[in-house]
Amino acid sequence: MKIDTCIKERRSVRKFLDNPVPHEVYEKIVDLARFSPSWKNSQTVRYRIVENKEHKSRIAETSVLGNPFNEKTINRASALVILTVVENISGYETDGTFSTPKEDRWEVFDAGIAAQTFCLAAHAHDVGTVIIGVFDEHEIKKIYDVPAGEKIIALIAAGYPQETGKVAPPRKEVEEILSFDE
Ligand SMILES: Cc1cc2nc3c(=O)[nH]c(=O)nc-3n(C[C@H](O)[C@H](O)[C@H](O)COP(=O)(O)O)c2cc1C
Repeated sequence: MKIDTCIKERRSVRKFLDNPVPHEVYEKIVDLARFSPSWKNSQTVRYRIVENKEHKSRIAETSVLGNPFNEKTINRASALVILTVVENISGYETDGTFSTPKEDRWEVFDAGIAAQTFCLAAHAHDVGTVIIGVFDEHEIKKIYDVPAGEKIIALIAAGYPQETGKVAPPRKEVEEILSFDE
């Protein structure tokens, strides 16, 4: 698939088929996502895939801040990717001080790049995804054992999509978002 097509045709998917995505396919997706750039190539992003239906439905019930759409999406997905970062590396000097005034926010930046790369790679392998930002990290940690020293940045619901070829929600025109110096 051409990169232009992959970028333009990837859509957020919220309805999925029941059949699971084979682990080999996730391995191929993460094999691509791991080439995402990161702060000093620190590669702090981790992809923790929850396929256990009971865990998934407990996360859906308790950890989406009461958002009914996200509850449904997570229950419909064959897997939920918990995207974490290993803390206190991205944005930091080796002595533990912040490298820039953005302090620890480079962790989130790295995770954002990785999330998009994951979603594009998934699309190229016919796997649908939607990034979920409305969730409660502390509730998830009661259900799913996130290793010490990692923080959850985002969730990604994943699975084979029920429908493909959805039209993109409107985007701003290039002239609205691009400027050059005069
Ligand atoms: C940081 C972030 C958080 C998001 N959170 C949610 C969410 O909680 N629930 C949801 O259904 N979609 C969520 N989305 C998906 C957006 O709604 C979606 O990307 C946007 O409407 C554009 O649609 P498209 O991805 O199909 O192009 C999120 C996307 C991003 C990047």
